Amino acid sequence: TLVFDEATIFNNLPGKNAFYQQDILAVSQFNRQKLDYLFALAERMRQVVEARGGIDLLKHRVLAALFYEPSTRTSSSFIAAMERLGGSVIPITQGVQFSSVSKGESLPDTVRTLEQYADVIVLRHPEKGSAATAAHYASVPVINAGDGPGEHPTQALLDLFTILEEMGTIDGLTIAMVGDLRYGRTVHSLTELLLEYNVKLRFVSPEILRMPLDLMNKVRDAGYDVRETYDVHEVIGEADVLYVTRVQKERFTDLAQYEQVKDYYTITPELLAHAKERMVVMHPLPRVGEISYEVDKDPRAAYFRQVRNGLYIRMALLAAVLCRGEA
Ligand code: CP
Repeated sequence: TLVFDEATIFNNLPGKNAFYQQDILAVSQFNRQKLDYLFALAERMRQVVEARGGIDLLKHRVLAALFYEPSTRTSSSFIAAMERLGGSVIPITQGVQFSSVSKGESLPDTVRTLEQYADVIVLRHPEKGSAATAAHYASVPVINAGDGPGEHPTQALLDLFTILEEMGTIDGLTIAMVGDLRYGRTVHSLTELLLEYNVKLRFVSPEILRMPLDLMNKVRDAGYDVRETYDVHEVIGEADVLYVTRVQKERFTDLAQYEQVKDYYTITPELLAHAKERMVVMHPLPRVGEISYEVDKDPRAAYFRQVRNGLYIRMALLAAVLCRGEA
């Protein structure tokens, strides 16, 4: 087992640290070189955690976790990541109703307050563009932990890292995304990131939950082999990755429409009998019935390993944003 220290953790990574003191707002900030760097650093974080639980790269540094929407994974993994790096956290994650937001404090004033205490702000907010607004007002880096139906870049990074860890490569794979492709911000961010790779894309959704047209056009204009269908059986045999999503009830204005599509897909052992022996089933979680619990014991079910990878990716991001990364 390799044991790293502060001096060596950034040694011999592919390329230089381009993230120091940068906001992490959108996947468009990432190219192949930056992804290679981040994934190599995340792999080191895995080794560090497995060998010794963590490393004091961020001692005396503070993270403000500001969550205006519910979260289990993103909030907990950022907190765990900061603590495993020796730092500490201001957790506004139990609902902003317990903060002065409930008294009407604006997002700009809230971030300008938190930056007086913290070195980095992690923000989840229901409005698209809110992370960019926060970054405009904050002088410390802001990390977007989901801005409504907009983006969830750190989820897309951990998704891509999981595909790499599970399949050994990303190039050459057929990736099928299933479910709410309209409102599911993780599939938007992941699709954008996959345009850095040579993949085939299959989008499976009910008619009203299709991928946004601008993103479809972007994929087509880039020359990708892409197909849309409502029938998961059409893609199950060719998929190397089956990325399943929840129908995002909270984004519907018409709940009758939600009721029509909420149970459209359920991934079952019977369906997976038609899948490749070497493939993975992923889900950003939470799930509410899209993958039956019987699938969990299938070795191809990668969604809890995916959750774990969120810790390593967020450790890598926090270390890269808050350390110069020079050995
Ligand atoms: N995948 C994800 O973002 O989960 P949470 O909403 O629990 O953070």
